[in-house]
Amino acid sequence: MSHDDFPTENPAVVTCGLPYANGDLHIGHLRTYVSGDAYARALETLGQDTAFVSGSDMHGTPVAVNATKAGVSPEEFALDHHEKYEETFPKFDVDFDNYGHTHDETNTELTTDIVRTLDEKGYVYEKEIQVAYDPEDDQWLPDRYVEGTCPYCGEKARGDECDEGCGRHLEPGEIEEPVSTISGNPAEYRERTHKFFRVSEFADYLTDFLDRLEGTSNAKNQPREWIESGLQDWCITRDMDWGIDYPGDEEGETPSDLVLYVWVDAPIEYISSTKQYSERVGPDVFDWAEPWRDGEGELIHVIGRDIIQHHTIFWPSMLRGAGYNEPRAVMASGFVNLDGDAFSTSRNRAVWADDYLDEDLAPDLVRYYLTTTGGFQHDVDFSWEKFQDRVNGELVGTLGNFVYRSLLFAARNYDGAPDAETSAEVESRIEAAVDDFAAAINDYSLKEAGDAAVALAGFGNEYIQRNEPWHLTDDDPDRAEQVIYDCVQIAKAVAVLSAPILSEKAQTLWEQLGEDGSVHDATLDACLESPPGEFGEPDELFEKIEDDRVAELNEKLEERVAAATEATEDDADESDESEENESMTDDTDIEPIADERISFEEFQDLDVRVGRIESAEGIEGADDLARLEVDIGVETRQIVAGIKQLHDLDALPGTKVVVVANLEKAELFGVESNGMVLAAGEDADLLTTHGDSEPGTKVR
Ligand code: MF3
Ligand code: ZN
Repeated sequence: MSHDDFPTENPAVVTCGLPYANGDLHIGHLRTYVSGDAYARALETLGQDTAFVSGSDMHGTPVAVNATKAGVSPEEFALDHHEKYEETFPKFDVDFDNYGHTHDETNTELTTDIVRTLDEKGYVYEKEIQVAYDPEDDQWLPDRYVEGTCPYCGEKARGDECDEGCGRHLEPGEIEEPVSTISGNPAEYRERTHKFFRVSEFADYLTDFLDRLEGTSNAKNQPREWIESGLQDWCITRDMDWGIDYPGDEEGETPSDLVLYVWVDAPIEYISSTKQYSERVGPDVFDWAEPWRDGEGELIHVIGRDIIQHHTIFWPSMLRGAGYNEPRAVMASGFVNLDGDAFSTSRNRAVWADDYLDEDLAPDLVRYYLTTTGGFQHDVDFSWEKFQDRVNGELVGTLGNFVYRSLLFAARNYDGAPDAETSAEVESRIEAAVDDFAAAINDYSLKEAGDAAVALAGFGNEYIQRNEPWHLTDDDPDRAEQVIYDCVQIAKAVAVLSAPILSEKAQTLWEQLGEDGSVHDATLDACLESPPGEFGEPDELFEKIEDDRVAELNEKLEERVAAATEATEDDADESDESEENESMTDDTDIEPIADERISFEEFQDLDVRVGRIESAEGIEGADDLARLEVDIGVETRQIVAGIKQLHDLDALPGTKVVVVANLEKAELFGVESNGMVLAAGEDADLLTTHGDSEPGTKVR
C-alpha cells in the first residue's frame, strides 16, 4: 500500500521528539524542532490541514538523576526546564500548536487509559527479573541510576543504554558489575516482579508496517534488522517514585508501587498534546481523534536518529495494541557536530540556543543552516565559517540580492509592481519551482524544498541580468515593465516557497511586496497570483557576516570550551558527566558507527592507495597545515595535511602513508591539495602499511 501524496483530505499531525526537561538547549537539539516546524509549515503551504505538537519529557531517570544532583525534587526541576523550553522555542519561530508536558493531567489520564487497554487485551504480563539495588542506601537503581559494563561489547555503559560502546538499548538486569551513579556504591541484583509488553507478538505487523512507512531511509531500514534478529518483549515498569503510576484496574484496585517506564508515557504525549490543541481550538477546527484513532490522518514523527527504535518498534506496537492509528512517516535526523566533533554538554562544547540569541543573529539564519545543510538523515557539521558561507552565499548573495534589487527597481520606477502580466517563461519557471517544492516535501526533504526557493531566486538574478531592465526603461518601456513585473512575481513566489524555513524573513518580504496578512497563510497557488501592486523601497533582508565577526564568534566559543575543560580537569573525579539530553548529545570520543551502509560499489569508487612521503614542510601563515609531496606510484602528488603541530615534519620523508587519490582538489592557504592522507584521531595518527606494498598499490 502506498500513501496518497500530500496534500491529502486528512488532517496531519507533525510531532517532534520530546526533549527531556533536564538541561539547556543547543543548536543540536534545535535541528529536530526547527525541522519539525518547517515541515509542518511546508505541509500547510501545500494546503494540508496540519497540527504541530510536542511537549517536555518530564519523567524517567534522565530527569530524576539530574534533579537529585541539583538537590531539588524531580517535579520542580522538570517544570523549571519545561518553562524554559516553552520560552525558547518561539524565539526560533518554532511555533507549536500545542506544547504540553508528560506530567500533566491529559497525559496522565491518556497514558493510564492506553496501558489499561493493553493490559486488558492481554498484551502485558508479569515476570520476575533482576533489578540493581544499592543495599547501603536502600535504593533501587533503575536505568541511569546504575552504570557498569555492557554485556554485549564490554564497554562502560549506563543502565538503559550502552552509550559509549555499541549503542544498544539495555533492559533492566543486563548491565554487568553494576555501581550506583548516585552513591558510587557497588550494587547487587535483587529479584522483582515487573510488567512486560509483548512486543514480540507484533513482529509480523511491524514488518508490514515498515513496508508502508515513509520518511528517511534510516528509519525505514534499520528496524528491519532488529525484527529479523528477534524482538524481545519490553519491560515497561520501573522501581521509582517519579513517573506515572502503573494503573490499577478501573475500580482503583491494586495500584502497584511501580511507575511506567518513561518511554511509555513520553510518546503518548504526542496524542495528549494534539488533544489539548483540539480542546483549545474546538474539534471543528481540529479534531485530535480523527488522525489518531477514529478516522484517518497523516502522523509524522520528526526525531533524532538515536531514537528510531522507539518510534518504529515500541511506539507502533503500542498504538496498534491499543487500537490507534499508525504513523505515516518517521523523519530521523542526523546529529549536529561542531567542527567535526560531537557536541559535548559537559565540556561546554556546543553552540547554546541562548548564546546564539545573545549574538543578535536572526533565527532564520540558523533555521536555514540546520534544515538545508546536507540531507536530513546525515550528520551536519557546524562551524561559524560554514555558517558564514551559507548566509553570505545563498541568503545574502542569491536570495537577498535578488529580491532587494528587484523590489528597489520596481519601487523607484513604478512605485511597486508595474502594470503587466507574468511572461510565459517566468510562469513556467515558477511552476517548476512549485513542483520541486511539492516533490521535496512529499520526499520528506527540507533541503530540497529550501533549494527550490533559493534556486528560483537564482533564476531571478540571472533573468534580471540577462534582460537588463535598467537599459530598457528609456528605449523600450513596455519591455522594462514586463521584466520587472516578472521579477516581482518571482519575489512573491520566493516568499511563499521560503516561508516554511525563513519564517520571519519571508514575512518581511511579503510585507515589502505590499501583501496583507501572513505569508504563512498563503498556499502554493499564491506563487502565481498577481502581487497587489503598490509598495515602497525595501530594506535589505539579510546582512553579510564579516570575517572579523566570525573570528569573534570563534574566540568566544574557544574561550568557553577552554574554561569548561579546565573546570572539568580541576574536579576530575566528579562523576557529573551525565548528558543533559541523550537525544542529541554524544559525550564520547568514539563516534557511533554510521547508520547507513554503503554498497561495495560505492566503496570501490574510492581510489585509495599506498604512498610514500617524499618531503614535508610547514605552510607559512597556517598554524596546522603542512605541504607534503607524496609518491603514489603513478605520480608524485602535492597534498596539504593538518599535521604541522602534530608531527616532526623533518622525520616524515620515507614514511609510507595511505592516500585517497581521487578526492577533488582543494586550495588551502593558497596551496593546492591534490588528494588526502588518511590519519586517525585528534593527534593525526598517520595510517601506514606493514608489509612491502609499493607506492601506488590500491587499498581494498
Ligand atoms: N526525551 C527523549 C529523548 O530525548 C525523547 C522522547 S520522544 C517520545 O531521547 F517519543 F517519547 F516522545
Ligand atoms: Zn555495548
